[in-house]
Amino acid sequence: MTTPAKSGATLTKDAAPGEILLKVTGLQKHFPIKKGLLQRQVGAVRAVDGIDFEVRAGETLGVVGESGCGKSTMGRLITRLLEPTAGKVEFEGKDITHLGVGQMRPLRRDVQMIFQDPYSSLNPRHTIGTIVSAPFKLQGVEPEGGVKKEVQRLLSVVGLNPEHYNRYPHEFSGGQRQRIGIARALALNPKLVVADEPVSALDVSIQAQVVNLLDDLQAELGLTYVIIAHDLSVVRHVSDRIAVMYLGKIMELADRDQLYKSPMHPYTKALLSAVPVPDPSRKSAKSERILLKGDVPSPISPPSGCRFHTRCWKATQICTTTEPPLKELRPGQRVACHHPENFADQAPQDVVLLSAAKEAAEGVADAVLAESAATSAAVAAEVEATAAASADGAKDGAAEQK
Ligand SMILES: Nc1ncnc2c1ncn2[C@@H]1O[C@H](COP(=O)(O)OP(=O)(O)OP(=O)(O)O)[C@@H](O)[C@H]1O
Ligand code: SF4
Ligand SMILES: [Mg+2]
Repeated sequence: MTTPAKSGATLTKDAAPGEILLKVTGLQKHFPIKKGLLQRQVGAVRAVDGIDFEVRAGETLGVVGESGCGKSTMGRLITRLLEPTAGKVEFEGKDITHLGVGQMRPLRRDVQMIFQDPYSSLNPRHTIGTIVSAPFKLQGVEPEGGVKKEVQRLLSVVGLNPEHYNRYPHEFSGGQRQRIGIARALALNPKLVVADEPVSALDVSIQAQVVNLLDDLQAELGLTYVIIAHDLSVVRHVSDRIAVMYLGKIMELADRDQLYKSPMHPYTKALLSAVPVPDPSRKSAKSERILLKGDVPSPISPPSGCRFHTRCWKATQICTTTEPPLKELRPGQRVACHHPENFADQAPQDVVLLSAAKEAAEGVADAVLAESAATSAAVAAEVEATAAASADGAKDGAAEQK
């Protein structure tokens, strides 16, 4: 495979691997709900409701969560296809939150999006040659050797026959169409690619091929990805870090291995329990599945406090009144929870078991509840022992000084 031609100064990769490429602070998108003849605003869909994260050059950040939790809206905000209601988006250190269409033009080359549905995202009346060459025309870029040659090269990069340049989208399968979408996204040699559920419309057998293609292209071209999926199994193999979203918020953001091995947010734990485990030693895995009761509440009026409290089996009084901040509880693992799993309780004095939690606990296997209680107790004992040891140490130190 060859690398797309670098034509123009903006195509140089500025951020070194590991440096922050994109930074998002307090990002919000509220869609107004209007009613009546006067179209008065009567409320808002709080699709994205204050999120903070960063994407480092060369990494893949996976974003997962149930339908309607704001993943696509987040993707469109960071690619500036939507105007944020509040918060800040910085790309390579530059504030791009409210750039106008003209000011965004140079940035459009650096940030590209791949869409979920390869059927509706390609214009059926255009040949694939026209579709993949559109970014060059829009940006007024003339690649070395001409547009046609470059488009044919891009088609072969994504595993398509360059001779099919003059064919129409309906002549291709779903997987091939998604490859066309990928070729279009790569045309201008972007730095950041946001892929919104790139494989969810495809057959399971084709999904892995497309995910592997994205992975290969990343290694080859030094790309940075944000890959959105509603299933943790899709992003598992390609992500370096994973953000778990619920009702417009990030609940947990952690290094991939840590998140799978030792999830700290009850919601992450529930999502993971739904992922099939190909491990015969965990024969009880099926019965350990956590069934989340009820639907995701409406983003028009999300629950008070922790917005997961209506479905959480660990919820206590504080969860209904105080929103837990997203805190780094372990290196590389940020969690928004008062009573995290596999960690010392953040609000141990608050032990009132709410009726909602009692009901939610019915959806959780006894083995999971027992394990959860055991790890909490073990961590609490460890914390106590460490505190006692350091208190003793301090006393000894004071005695020595006398
Ligand atoms: N243009 C819009 N106007 C009003 N509400 C919107 C708009 N776009 C999205 N929403 C609402 O915002 C919320 C988040 O939608 P979004 O599409 O971002 O979720 P998602 O996580 O991508 O879901 P899915 O997994 O189904 O794609 C939903 O309640 C949705 O109905
Ligand atoms: S324990 Fe409380 S804060 Fe943690 S997820 Fe459950 S409801 Fe939210
Ligand atoms: Mg979506």
